[in-house]
Amino acid sequence: MKGIDDIPGSPEAPTTSTALITGISGQDGAYLARFLLDKGYTVFGTYRRTSTPNFWRLEELGIRHHPRLKLLVHDLTDPGSCIRILEASNATEVYHLGAQSFVGASFDQPVTTAEITGLGTVHFLEAVRAVNRNIRFYQASSAEMFGRVQAVPQSETTPFYPRSPYAAAKLYAHWMAINYRESYDIFASCGILFNHESPLRGQDFVTRKITDCVAQIALGSTTPLRLGNLNAERDWGYAPEYVAGMWSMLQADEPHTLVFATNKTHSVRSFATWAFLLIGREIEWSGAGAAEVGRCARTGAVLVEVASDYYRPAEVDSLIGDPSKARKTINWQPTTTAQELCRIMLNADLERHRRAARPADPSSILDPLIDQISQLDHASISVPAL
Ligand code: NAP
Ligand code: GDD
Repeated sequence: MKGIDDIPGSPEAPTTSTALITGISGQDGAYLARFLLDKGYTVFGTYRRTSTPNFWRLEELGIRHHPRLKLLVHDLTDPGSCIRILEASNATEVYHLGAQSFVGASFDQPVTTAEITGLGTVHFLEAVRAVNRNIRFYQASSAEMFGRVQAVPQSETTPFYPRSPYAAAKLYAHWMAINYRESYDIFASCGILFNHESPLRGQDFVTRKITDCVAQIALGSTTPLRLGNLNAERDWGYAPEYVAGMWSMLQADEPHTLVFATNKTHSVRSFATWAFLLIGREIEWSGAGAAEVGRCARTGAVLVEVASDYYRPAEVDSLIGDPSKARKTINWQPTTTAQELCRIMLNADLERHRRAARPADPSSILDPLIDQISQLDHASISVPAL
């Protein structure tokens, strides 16, 4: 079974290259750092200064003190220091992952999001242009740019229709990366990534919010899971597979724009249903809209409620990507299903809560549960027609 320590792709001949990752403290930054370190890279990672260091992901992956990992303080809104960082690192590949990446927060902080997620990219592109135009640059573009989708599935040729300040900022950054490719011959590649999740996902995002809450319920919590739009559909993949694709894009002969997706879509309701099934709780859904609830089929207890405060002013109803160009161009293909992803994430959250609750108790009630979930065939999770 795949778990937190798995990462696709086997190291070939070790490289002596140097890469710079912005946003190394985030989900993708941490996985990508480990991927590149495994390949022999020296990795410079930038993080913003906070009153309390935020390196839990690097710690969980066991790379926080890796001898080839160097951490540099940098805020994406500070243009001048991009130049200093590029010069100091001497990196030949830049993976620009740093962003205000939470769509919900972008409605409350549209200007900050534009500065970090939009202009922050241009600060780095300008630095590449000034310091070394041979640097290969990866731009973390987003499926959110498709927003109110103009075609199903979405591909590299689908017109964009952003539906949030985050998506609009990403669209600006996306076009600027292409602009620097075409204007200055900079190797700027854009990965239009559909949602990718993992045990390292931030807890604001819906998948991790679900698995974390379900794990607590398995441990005895009686607080229901409170969600917003249960009907939203996403194309969810497994993050370690996606960061491997980022690297492949920068090894190609020329810069590309590529969609990374699984070509399957599922609703938030389905993801929650699977997570509860994994702890042996079948959900019965009743009601509609903000009045919908999910009850335990056996006890009738309310396990899921809808909270309209999680609704967004404008919603992206459904995303499903067509990754065929990525398969043809860089031989990238995802393998982890959304159901398996749910199990991986739930397992990790159960383990975390077990550790936190009973640090040294070998007879934890969760051990048999985790074993049972590990052995479950994900294909056996029956997905109700929703
Ligand atoms: P994430 O976990 O939210 O990580 C974002 C990173 O950016 C964090 O390290 C964060 O630092 C950093 N950051 C935020 N504001 C900053 C600032 N002002 N200065 C410096 N660093 C700052 O996001 P992710 O899921 O790894 O995604 C990586 C990138 O891919 C993002 O650009 C995201 O928008 C994009 N993307 C993600 C997905 C997805 O499904 N995951 C899909 C498409 C595109 P802190 O740790 O201090 O917050
Ligand atoms: N976060 C959250 N919390 N989302 C909820 C909730 C909830 O309680 N209830 C329902 N949803 C719905 C949201 O309205 C949205 O339609 C969907 O679940 C997914 O929300 P998120 O997990 O927050 O992700 P996202 O799709 O908005 O954005 C993520 O994917 C993008 C790529 O498509 C982020 O990682 C972006 O940075 C990324 O670009």
